[in-house]
Amino acid sequence: MNVLLLGSGGREHAFAWKIAQSKKLKNLYIAPGNPGTALFGQNVNIGVNDFEKIKNFCIEKAINMLVVGTEEPLVNGIYDFFANSEQLKHIYVTGASARGAMLEGSKDFAKEFMLKYNIPTARYKTFTLANIDKGFEFLETLNAPFVLKADGLAAGKGVVICETVDTAKTTLSEMLNGKFGAASRKVVIEEFLNGIEVSMFVLTDGVSYKLLPEAKDYKRAADGDKGANTGGMGAVSPVYFVDDTFRQKVCSKIIEPTIAGLQAEKIDYRGFIFLGLMNNCGEPYVIEYNVRMGDPETEVVFPRLDADLLDLFEGVATKTLNSKKCETYANAAVTVICVSGGYPDAYKKGMEISGIENVDESIVFHAGTTICDNKLQTSGGRVLAITSLDDTIENALKKSYKSIEKIEFRDMYFRKDIGQDILNGKK
Ligand code: AMP
Ligand code: GLY
Repeated sequence: MNVLLLGSGGREHAFAWKIAQSKKLKNLYIAPGNPGTALFGQNVNIGVNDFEKIKNFCIEKAINMLVVGTEEPLVNGIYDFFANSEQLKHIYVTGASARGAMLEGSKDFAKEFMLKYNIPTARYKTFTLANIDKGFEFLETLNAPFVLKADGLAAGKGVVICETVDTAKTTLSEMLNGKFGAASRKVVIEEFLNGIEVSMFVLTDGVSYKLLPEAKDYKRAADGDKGANTGGMGAVSPVYFVDDTFRQKVCSKIIEPTIAGLQAEKIDYRGFIFLGLMNNCGEPYVIEYNVRMGDPETEVVFPRLDADLLDLFEGVATKTLNSKKCETYANAAVTVICVSGGYPDAYKKGMEISGIENVDESIVFHAGTTICDNKLQTSGGRVLAITSLDDTIENALKKSYKSIEKIEFRDMYFRKDIGQDILNGKK
């Protein structure tokens, strides 16, 4: 198969790494990719939202399969663009249709969907500037802390948690007045859920589904889960409380009603569903849906996945996923993200990276790197994901931290406590 993968982060490097192991791969192209994806295929300088250029490229290279790593093109309708084009409709696309992608693209849509199909989630209401007074009243009925969510995509920054009702009211007003641009013209206010978060991943062909390994993401910048929210500073898999009982509840209370709901709404959905879950006393609640894999979760999920990714994606496109092999290795995986000093606030780019070639016990996935004058440099906040596998999380962590000692770039920063809570929780 000739495959085109869309995206350029650590997640897409992990996709390229896993796709390269597929027996079904002929040629892999990545648009736009990064120096890590270039190790497994050919990077092409096309933006993920440039549908016309993507179309021409697919025709020119006789692409058989499009794999969409990132959410924006899905929300913008790339699935439908392919399905509705005479020249492209034979190409297998792994990704949700535009309506399906609204599960991530609109929090209000996702909440309404969950309410309609009885999927456990926090109680909520949605407001616009026209009924802001009702929003203030609703806040008065909730207990602190208060969770306010911009309806649309806001680069992972659209959720604000407020400690007092007064700050919640001010924040609501700021959001409805454009704090996150068009994304916060509507705001979802919801109940705060207590518990431990876990990311779970589903691949579906719209009828059947496969559950992939779960992961825990570390979103805060500083040790001890302090500091600003980031895209993710590390991840581990497995997560100790995700046992057969919990998994069974997620399947019967969340995944199956979600797929049944998509069918009832006549939404074509052939791709990943990323469930951001809260485990509240053993009961799973949906915090959010995403229509793609997580980043950095993919960097620990795919290394544990005992499956041929292209075979799975073929099953997704042809609605034969049920017949495909998809298992989980019994090992543990961790990833620690090396970021540019200052991230997620202002940081410098263009720092030379050295030492990756000396890493022999970990996989180094590139996230924000570029090659300039034949030298590897930083080009983003999250720069590298250092993934290690071992029989336990503890041993895998030792490997990743040992590997990081071999890597250098100016102002490199990483969390020193990835997975510590899991190790403590297990004891
Ligand atoms: P999201 O962008 O939807 O992933 O939300 C960002 C983070 O806010 C989540 O990872 C949670 O830590 C937190 N969060 C969102 N909704 C809730 C909620 N209802 N209760 C508690 N925490 C929440
Ligand atoms: N790591 C969280 C996300 O990918 O949204």
